[in-house]
This record gives sequence, structure tokens and C-alpha cells, in this order.
Amino acid sequence: MWVDSHCHITHKNITELGDVNSLVSAAREQNVMAMLVINCRIVEELPTLLDAVHSHENLWCTVGTHPHDAGDENEKLITEENIIDIINTHKKIIGVGESGLDYHYNFSSPEDQHISFRKHIRVCRDLDIPLVVHAREADDDIIRLIREETNGKGVRGIMHSFSSSEKMCMEALELGFHISFSGMITFKNAQNLRDIAAKVPLERLLVETDAPYLAPEPYRGKINQPAYVPHTGKILAQLKNISSEEMAMQTTENFFNLFERAVRV
Ligand code: NI
Repeated sequence: MWVDSHCHITHKNITELGDVNSLVSAAREQNVMAMLVINCRIVEELPTLLDAVHSHENLWCTVGTHPHDAGDENEKLITEENIIDIINTHKKIIGVGESGLDYHYNFSSPEDQHISFRKHIRVCRDLDIPLVVHAREADDDIIRLIREETNGKGVRGIMHSFSSSEKMCMEALELGFHISFSGMITFKNAQNLRDIAAKVPLERLLVETDAPYLAPEPYRGKINQPAYVPHTGKILAQLKNISSEEMAMQTTENFFNLFERAVRV
């Protein structure tokens, strides 16, 4: 079985393909049996995510504010204590995210992004729960803020849809992170990313769709969905010289080792 370790299954773009039930069924037909649904806005979106994950076995979600939304006044009112309370109330919440920094778009100011990211890191440090990190053109600050908030120890977590430098990859591994690859590694022009993926130890690899974004080949440009995970997993398997079945088993084991709160049914 495969696990999609990062998807946005209730995103408005994805509803064109079907509702949560039909997306989960389509994924199961491709042996994608578990999914982690990532929260981007706590105030507006979390109730919908909780509904979705409560009605499906082997679906879990995170709680967090995407760096794009870090400046949203409603999101700014959410404190560290609020996030801890939310996690303690809902068993199906197994991590914190989407978190991180995005200086490419700067939809929120870097200052607001830092406040939000530091808050998330501290929650993960205090609860020993994984952090899901989005990094774009902010590699050095991502590593620096994690080090600063954890006394250099790091936290458990994921560098999601990895597309940063090899240096960043090695630093993240050193801080205890797993590295998750999306459909980007199937793109023709992504040789650099494939070279990095080949260097990640097997027990630290994860695979994701980031649906509805970044559909893998042969669906590039289309709306992505969890059912497409095996297309990315196959490329990852080739890079590590193992079979797709072995990669499915390994990444599934890695997922459940990392997310201790995910109880498999
Ligand atoms: Ni995402």
C-alpha cells in the first residue's frame, strides 16, 4: 500500500474531480490506502477537514496556517495554546502544518511568516509531534528558525514537496526531518531534484501528491489527486534501485514511524 503524505483533498479545485468519498475510492483502487490531509487555514478550513477525516478510516489531518495565510488577521489571533488545545481535542490531528516560509510569493510579509512558523515549531517541540514544512526561496531562514527554537536539536517533521538545494536537504536530515517528494520528480527538467532524492536514506523518504497541485507525469498540468501517488513512487523506486512494491512498503513504514498518532486500521 501507498500513503499520500500530503494532500489538500477538500481544496475547491479538486471538487471538479469529485467529492472526498470518490477521491478516496479512486485512490484505494490504486492501492493508495492512507492520506494525510493538510490544513492551510485553521479558522476557515479546519472544520471541513475534520469532517472529511472523521468519516474515513486511514485519513488524518494536520492543523496549521500556510505561510501564504500567515498575515490573515483571523489566523494571527490563533495562539500556541489554541493549537495545543485543538490537537489535544482531536485524535485525528497527527501533526502541525502547513507551516514554513515562502519568499517567492510573499503573500504574507516575512515578519508574519516568521511569527507563525516559530509558533508552529514550538508546538511541535513541546508536544513532540511532526511539523510539515513548506520551503520556497527561504532555505536558510527555515533551517535557522528551527535551530533557534529547538536549541539546535531540531524537531521531527517533513520537508514537503522538496524542491530546495542539496545543502538544505542535508541540513534538514541532520535536524531529524524526513524528505517528501511530489510529482515534480517525474518532470523531465527535474534531474537536479532526482539527484538529491537518490541521496536521501531510504528510511527518511516519503511520497506525496500535494493534490490538487503538481500532478506527476503523465498527468502534468491536470488537477492532481491522491490516486496518482504511485506514479511518483515509481520514479523514487528507480532512483533507489528497488521495486515499486518495496518503495510502497518502505514509505508506508516511514510514515507510520513518523506519525505516532496515526493508528492504522
Ligand atoms: Ni500543501
